[in-house]
Amino acid sequence: MSEASRIALGMMRIENLSAGEIRELYTGARDAGVTLFDHADIYGGGEHGCERRFSEALQLGATEREQIVLQTKCGIRPGGKGFDFSADYIVRRAEESLEALGTDYLDVLMLHRPDTLVEPEEVASAFSQLESAGKVRAFGVSNHTAQQIELLKTAVTQPLAVNQVQFGLGHAALVAQGIAANMEGVKQSAMRDGGLIEYARINGITLEAWSPFQRGFFSGSIFEQGGLRELQTVIARMAAERETTPTAIATAWITRHPARMRVVLGTTKASRVAEAVEGAGMVLSRAEWYELFAAAGYEVP
Ligand SMILES: NC(=O)c1ccc[n+]([C@@H]2O[C@H](COP(=O)([O-])OP(=O)(O)OC[C@H]3O[C@@H](n4cnc5c(N)ncnc54)[C@H](OP(=O)(O)O)[C@@H]3O)[C@@H](O)[C@H]2O)c1
Repeated sequence: MSEASRIALGMMRIENLSAGEIRELYTGARDAGVTLFDHADIYGGGEHGCERRFSEALQLGATEREQIVLQTKCGIRPGGKGFDFSADYIVRRAEESLEALGTDYLDVLMLHRPDTLVEPEEVASAFSQLESAGKVRAFGVSNHTAQQIELLKTAVTQPLAVNQVQFGLGHAALVAQGIAANMEGVKQSAMRDGGLIEYARINGITLEAWSPFQRGFFSGSIFEQGGLRELQTVIARMAAERETTPTAIATAWITRHPARMRVVLGTTKASRVAEAVEGAGMVLSRAEWYELFAAAGYEVP
């Protein structure tokens, strides 16, 4: 398998792009060094829409296919019908993704959001079927807590090497609790995820930050949303000091964390991919990192 780049390109927003625009975005990302492309069965109308747009627009040859890391997700039932980690469902959705993506293997298959009705043996059965048929090379999860991963591990034998989680200056809960630990009366000090970031570091799980520039749950980008004036001012000042872009600074804030997270971009513009790649190559000082965190409205005791 090719090595996954630190910056990944998410494909959730490509459904309404023309084939030419998808090619331009892909080529720009590849030129900037991106190898990791992130899909889900539900992106684009619920039925593999973005996967199909990707393969039809790009028509990847065998050599190019081998040079990228293609990952997709399953387990959310389209149309708000909950979650399904049954073996049959996982296998069927993965096989549909293979067909939509026009490839005979997935580099990584992830379980998209926890299914509280999960039977770990069912997941284990699905993963083993897909792995032994050569259809999936590695497995991961998304939006899972440490305990949910531990539960899967009671039956799943393949490493769960990746956990894709929402993280960025617009929603930094993963680090916010630890910073305000044990502070009475501070909202931020409430434990929300069972120490997910520390669990990932202890267990060698790579975190992938999705929606790195969104505030809250798709409330708009941190660069344009009202109410974030202080953050925008600090980002702009640091960008000027370092002769770079706001996108680079907001990316560098994520990659500076020693958990060595990947960043899953959602931009549809190749120029912004290049800006993020530049940011991933920068190392913010501790002072800069905490200043950005505080400017985003979090408590630094
Ligand atoms: N695992 C999960 O549960 C999960 C959930 C959601 C998403 N994801 C993955 O994460 C990827 C990224 O999600 P996302 O699209 O929400 O991420 P994002 O990169 O935070 O947001 C992308 C959006 O922000 C805009 N944007 C980016 N930079 C900007 C700037 N400097 N100024 C103004 N607007 C800017 C983009 O517009 P332009 O296109 O104009 O740049 C685009 O509309 C998805 O494609 C998907 O692969 C995973």
